[in-house]
Amino acid sequence: MRLPLTSALGLGLLCVQQVAGITPPPGAESLTACSDVSVRKEIRTLSSEEWNTYKSAVEGAKSDRWIDWFGYLHERVSSKIHGNSEFFVYHRKFINDYEKILRGYEPNVVLPYWNTMIDYQNPSGSPVLGDKYFGGNGATGECVSTGLANSWNFTYLGNECLQRKFGEADSIVTWYSPEYVTSILQSSPTYAELRAGIENSLHGIVHLSIGGDMNTMHSPADPIFWLHHSNIDRVYAQWQAVDPDERTYMYDGTDSTGKEVSLNDKLTYTSTAAYEVMRLGYGNMCYTYDTIKAADGDSKSLLSTRQRKCKPRPSKATQTIQKLPVKLLTNYYPSFNKKKFSPLENEMSDITPKQPMAAECNKSFTPPKPSEKLRGKMPYPGRLSKDYIKMMNLNPKEVKAAEERARAMVDELNAANYLSPYLFDLDK
Ligand SMILES: *[C@@H]1O[C@H](CO)[C@@H](O)[C@H](O)[C@H]1NC(C)=O
Ligand SMILES: *[C@@H]1O[C@H](CO)[C@@H](O)[C@H](O)[C@H]1NC(C)=O
Repeated sequence: MRLPLTSALGLGLLCVQQVAGITPPPGAESLTACSDVSVRKEIRTLSSEEWNTYKSAVEGAKSDRWIDWFGYLHERVSSKIHGNSEFFVYHRKFINDYEKILRGYEPNVVLPYWNTMIDYQNPSGSPVLGDKYFGGNGATGECVSTGLANSWNFTYLGNECLQRKFGEADSIVTWYSPEYVTSILQSSPTYAELRAGIENSLHGIVHLSIGGDMNTMHSPADPIFWLHHSNIDRVYAQWQAVDPDERTYMYDGTDSTGKEVSLNDKLTYTSTAAYEVMRLGYGNMCYTYDTIKAADGDSKSLLSTRQRKCKPRPSKATQTIQKLPVKLLTNYYPSFNKKKFSPLENEMSDITPKQPMAAECNKSFTPPKPSEKLRGKMPYPGRLSKDYIKMMNLNPKEVKAAEERARAMVDELNAANYLSPYLFDLDK
């Protein structure tokens, strides 16, 4: 949101959002502003108290078989909510419903997200897949035996353990980088383009390559699902917040039947219209994300003292990419060509897998130097398999287009001798 500073300072959240000039479509005028807006944070920035609260809520929901229910539900609707425009809006409601269930166990719990991009080089080495958080690869019978999901069984398909199946030598293929997502945020003028650029790439590869139950239609059985989708939802929310007037209620493309979508379409098997979930902070969508708040610098009441001190500034990573040839910027990072760009269309921050999000504002934190030997050696993201594309009802042409674009971007960055700040010397 680009607001006059005086109005941002002088008025409360409600007024600030009205100043932004969002014109709600018919029906949406009646959605009221939430009295309490929670801030979803990167999993690694939770305090141990917040993490314990989250864990306890998830374990409660698990023991009452909510996890089975959400897995079952997702499987029932899957062919309608993937590979088309319903993807973002349906999953936004889905994870919000889950968060509400979790509140039945821990009233103050907030769903975190997993910034999978900063782990893209070496996902299996991410602390998020370690003992402290969600546990790693499946062991005997591919059953997960570490972390939060240690020895989980679900029952709706029969009594089965929760499985994960990484690739060879317990490692996971390369995922999509902050550079890629930044590029998609800057070059997707429509909802449908953003959806295709995210679902067919970042979204799919995380599911497919964690494998096991994540690579099925009942993937919500794996507790990783919710943090991955919270991150996908964050990218969508950031894209909306770049231009709230234009994008809050932008909805285009087609549904699973090939029909043009409309704001009044009901989300599959629900009585909720698409427009009801689009504006964060309104109706039942009483949350936002830390990256959006930090970038906006408004609605100060929502921020902790530490975050309030945190002014958005171009990160070292951003400065590196801005020095690339103009032609490359024009093709992949049009906003970096401008003097001023929205921090919301930039995932290039000085953060690392071990120091996520909060480190951006942490003066004493210096990100590790990227390894010179990786200059010009950015890896390609992994590809989706034929089986996955079929299972998810994705459009093979659309997937190919997203993958080829991502690879062309990697080629050009490498040709320009770019050194990605998110690559580490894994031999060390
Ligand atoms: C969990 O499922 C596995 C099969 O995947 C089974 O061998 C094991 O006995 C189950 N554990 C419990 C506690 O039911
Ligand atoms: C800030 O940086 C210091 C030193 O690197 C680190 O120990 C601390 O955990 C960081 N705090 C946050 C909130 O990231």
